[in-house]
Amino acid sequence: MREDEKRRAAQAAADEIQSGMIIGIGTGSTVAELIPILAARVRDGLSVVAVATSEATAAAAQAAGITIVPFADLSKIDLTIDGVDEIDPALRAIKGAGGALLREKIVATASHRMIAIADSSKHSPALGSHAISVEILPFARSFVLAAITALGTVPTLRVVAGQPAHSDQGNLLADCAFGELSDAAKTAQALSAIPGLLGHGLFLTEIDALYLAKGTEVTRYERTPTA
Ligand code: A5P
Repeated sequence: MREDEKRRAAQAAADEIQSGMIIGIGTGSTVAELIPILAARVRDGLSVVAVATSEATAAAAQAAGITIVPFADLSKIDLTIDGVDEIDPALRAIKGAGGALLREKIVATASHRMIAIADSSKHSPALGSHAISVEILPFARSFVLAAITALGTVPTLRVVAGQPAHSDQGNLLADCAFGELSDAAKTAQALSAIPGLLGHGLFLTEIDALYLAKGTEVTRYERTPTA
């Protein structure tokens, strides 16, 4: 059921992809539904190249026949499609459970348009039920963890098979359960101000549109321009 919703959201978003575009492809189980949909359109003649936000996405996309180009050679992307951990009615999101938040933030910011795709479980009336993931330079581990603690939450260093988890860049990952965010912009600013904290999973301004699937229905939300 949830997988069906992910696929429907991905299918709807994929319709925005046009020939000639440079596409950003996100990371995670929702994006995993997008990859075969995009690959089928490429087989049918759609001409695009793509940037991947993780090694896992790059491998899956290339295996499906999608051309992946290095982001290092680009300064702009036309359209990025990515999943979210949680998204509110103002299209402010928490991302990063998959550990790709730093590349995702860069690619989203470089994109002319960023679309989120989500199953119904991701919709949240108030941001903060999901922990905020952060990427930490190993050199600054203890300093950064202490600085996050001073903001009012105890960060949990991510561990895989008893060992610290690493991002594709070789940095550490931690999850910060702040709870409901009364001022998400202030939290984002406070995290960004910590030297050695290389990125956080609050995406407050990057997402332009959301395709949210609930059952067999997909609803498209567009960011309301701020005055
Ligand atoms: C990857 O780092 C994340 O930002 C994912 O985009 C996010 O966690 C959504 O993943 P799922 O689509 O697997 O829920």
